[in-house]
Formats: sequence, C-alpha cells, structure tokens
Amino acid sequence: MRHLMKPLDFTTEELDQLFDLADDIQKNRAKYAHACDGKILATCFYEPSTRTRLSFESAMLSLGGQVLGFASADSSSAAKGESVADTIRTVSCFADICAMRHPKEGAPMVAASKSRIPVINAGDGGHEHPTQTLTDLMTIRSLKGRLDNFTIGFCGDLKFGRTVHSLVHALMRYDNIHFVFISPEELRIPSYVREELREANIPFEEVIDLESAIGNLDLLYMTRVQRERFFNEEDYVRLKDFCILTKAKMKKARPDMLVLHPLPRVNEISVEVDDDPRAVYFDQVQYGRFVRMALILTLLEIKV
Ligand code: CP
Repeated sequence: MRHLMKPLDFTTEELDQLFDLADDIQKNRAKYAHACDGKILATCFYEPSTRTRLSFESAMLSLGGQVLGFASADSSSAAKGESVADTIRTVSCFADICAMRHPKEGAPMVAASKSRIPVINAGDGGHEHPTQTLTDLMTIRSLKGRLDNFTIGFCGDLKFGRTVHSLVHALMRYDNIHFVFISPEELRIPSYVREELREANIPFEEVIDLESAIGNLDLLYMTRVQRERFFNEEDYVRLKDFCILTKAKMKKARPDMLVLHPLPRVNEISVEVDDDPRAVYFDQVQYGRFVRMALILTLLEIKV
C-alpha cells in the first residue's frame, strides 16, 4: 500500500505516468466514469480549504465513487481531543482512501503510519502540499510541453508557503532549472531548502524586488502571505502588501511567461491581471481535478 506524503514519493518516471493518465482522463471522461464504483474517499480536513477538498471530492465522484468526511476540526471528534492516529484507524473502517489536511507538520505522516488505507497529504502546516505540486507540474507540462530548462521565480511568502517548498523539491530533479526567490528578508525560503539546493549544485538567487527580476522569468509562481501562520498580526500587516503583481509589472515580463498561483489569492495579484493570457492560475484548478483523479486510481491500483 502506498501513501503520498511529499512529491518525492514518486519518481520522475512515475510522475510522467501519472500525468499521462491525467491527460487520458481529461480526453476520455466516459472511459473512467465507473472506475471507482463502490469505492469511498474520506476527506479529513482539519484546516480550511476550497480547491483541494472540493477537487478531491469532484475527482472521486467523477470516477463513480462516493465521498464522506469533515471540513473542519471543530466538526470532528478532534474537538473532543481525539488523536489523528485514532481518527485514521476509525476512518480506515469506513473508506478506501483518505485525503488529509492538518495545521501540524507531519500529522498526515502519523496518520499513514497507523492507517489501513492509502493516505494523501493534502497540506500539512507550513511543510508540504504534494497534490498542489502535482497540479502545478501538470499545468506546466501541459502548457509549456516540458518540465526542464526553466527560470522560475517564486514570489511572496516563501517561508510558510508549503506549495513553494513542495514545488522546489519536485523541480530540483529536472535539468537546468534556475530558481529565483523573491521575498522580504522575513519571508525568505527556509534555510533547509537553500541548503538542499546548494548540496545539489542547483543555481538559485534571492532578491527582494519583483519588478527587476520579472523580465528574466519563464514562470512566475505567486503566493499569498499566510496570515494564519504568523505569530503576531503586526508582522502580517507590515508584510502583507510587500509585492503585488500588476498590469504594469506584467508589461516587463516575457510574452510567454506563465503566471501560476496555488490560490487562494488575497491581493498579491491585481484582478486586472486575470485577463492576461499568461495568467493561468484558474487553469491550474482544472488540471488539479484530473491529476487527483489519476492519483486516486494510482493509489487504489485500479487499471482502466
Ligand atoms: N491551493 C490550495 O490548497 O487551495 P485551498 O486551500 O483552497 O485548498
């Protein structure tokens, strides 16, 4: 039985197979409409979500399966003090696969160690968000036709942004990726990620100003400042508007640079950018559904 805790749980060859399957699902929806008949997905979300939870539920329903779960810790027995380990033992009696989001780093890993069903990490604190990475890679591969030879800029909250940490880890395995980290000092990419890049001899630079960096990028990955992970509101207020992508800044970008964002957006991308054909963050949401369908089939070892 396999779980998904981090993007590196799949080899690059396995990722290619997963994306090929997601492509096929997208093109041949009817072929997969009953692939999960009789199967149940549990969504155990201890933290708020719109895209991840609903796209998992939509994915399972589109495969003919059913869904159950909870959307907040308050509406589960966690509110009465139940541990993640006991919860997953219980959920294992009711479902065939579980997607879990939790504010504590490592909680889905604890669940996986006690589970009788595959567990998918749907985001754990400021640590990793592997299914967002699958979505991001699928989007890049579909729209650019490759996953190598890029200069990618990450802009925003690189300290707490788990989608950033996961995508950097995933892209480190592809050839000729140059990373540009754009953030204020307080929200720098964690030192352990910088160390991993240095050890792997992968070039990266850290800058504060998006405007001066944007012209060299093939991909720009914007992120919101993660209010819920700050220790005090004062720091959040000081940092929240440090960088906003506007139409004026987009004029300095390459004509084929793609703008990605895991969403939700607060104000870091001005809505006037949404109509720019290079803004593909709502395309990402579409790809996320198909790649999660492919992931469910893969972890349940269902062949169609
Ligand atoms: N990208 C993402 O994880 O969005 P949600 O928090 O809405 O699930």
